[in-house]
Amino acid sequence: MRALVMTAPGGAENSQVKDVEVVTPGPGQVAIDVAYAGLNFVDVMVRRGDGGYTSEWPYLPGKEVAGTVRALGEGVTGLAVGDRVVAAPVGGGLAEVAVAEAVLTVPVPDGVGLREAAAVPLGLATSVLLLTDAGRFTAGDTVLVHSASGGIGSAIAQLVPLLGGGRLLGTVGRPEKAAAAVAAGYDAAFARDEDLVEAVRKATDGQGVDLILDPLGTSALPTDLDIAAPGGRIVLFGNAGGGAVDALPPVGRLMAGNLTITGFSHRGLAATAPAKLAHAIRRAMDFLAEAHLPLPVNELPDLAAVPAAHDAMEAGRALGKYVVRVAAG
Ligand SMILES: NC(=O)c1ccc[n+]([C@@H]2O[C@H](COP(=O)([O-])OP(=O)(O)OC[C@H]3O[C@@H](n4cnc5c(N)ncnc54)[C@H](OP(=O)(O)O)[C@@H]3O)[C@@H](O)[C@H]2O)c1
Repeated sequence: MRALVMTAPGGAENSQVKDVEVVTPGPGQVAIDVAYAGLNFVDVMVRRGDGGYTSEWPYLPGKEVAGTVRALGEGVTGLAVGDRVVAAPVGGGLAEVAVAEAVLTVPVPDGVGLREAAAVPLGLATSVLLLTDAGRFTAGDTVLVHSASGGIGSAIAQLVPLLGGGRLLGTVGRPEKAAAAVAAGYDAAFARDEDLVEAVRKATDGQGVDLILDPLGTSALPTDLDIAAPGGRIVLFGNAGGGAVDALPPVGRLMAGNLTITGFSHRGLAATAPAKLAHAIRRAMDFLAEAHLPLPVNELPDLAAVPAAHDAMEAGRALGKYVVRVAAG
């Protein structure tokens, strides 16, 4: 089968589509003929050689897929060969065949296309959990999302109205990306520069932000603390810049502001609470099926186009969510 293979840490020069042995499902696992796979920043972090991901090369990237069940491992019930499913494999999703745990393999309802479904198991499920679980969003909240014009950022803009609505502010790394965030549904978007705190204060009439979703390690945490409303929640869910992170703020600062800092990890949930993650994948899929969530995705034509898209994500040039068509025809 064809698969994207990362041969060593680095950039696109170390990512190639290769013929590799077809994977087979072990007990409790499902093999899937992949129609579409989602691209995620975590694969860029792996490729960059960020600590804590992999020390084993070659590495097969790809953590969300949509396709049809090819084979069932021992003991798997409730799924049949040929079922349309999405799944969150540990890796190897950017391939013609992927293997995932059955608990993280979820049927795709009729009427939902596999193209959009491929954005669900990691991207949309994470966005649902960031808002509802880690972020305890309630209707009317003011929410600020860093990296608002990216995949997660644009999914959150789709979800907030479905969860009751709120004021949605975003930040972007380059000023020219602010317009894309507003087009994705943000009420306002700001460049992350020295004027950010003042701009957010102005945009919130001095009230501050109820929920801040922050994938920037601790680099924006001082800003988050400055712009959080009393009782505000800050969810740390990434380290886009890589490298070491700082210590958390002094307890006194949190107590004085009635502030909460929470962590979120899709990978952590997949390993320690897969049923909870599967529930979020189902819920995200229901948003697509029943609420007709218009989840816009950029489609790449084949696996060979993925390394350049990873380059754009790594350089902060990508906009929105990317999926790649894997099955020929
Ligand atoms: N914890 C989890 O389980 C989880 C799950 C999914 C995603 N995430 C995180 O959520 C973020 C968004 O993920 P995504 O897949 O949707 O990617 P994405 O937003 O499409 O792309 C990543 C974005 O990160 C921003 N960024 C900030 N500093 C950067 C740096 N030093 N180098 C490169 N990019 C930088 C860039 O936007 P700006 O420059 O505009 O900020 C870039 O466009 C990522 O940080 C990802 O790791 C975490």
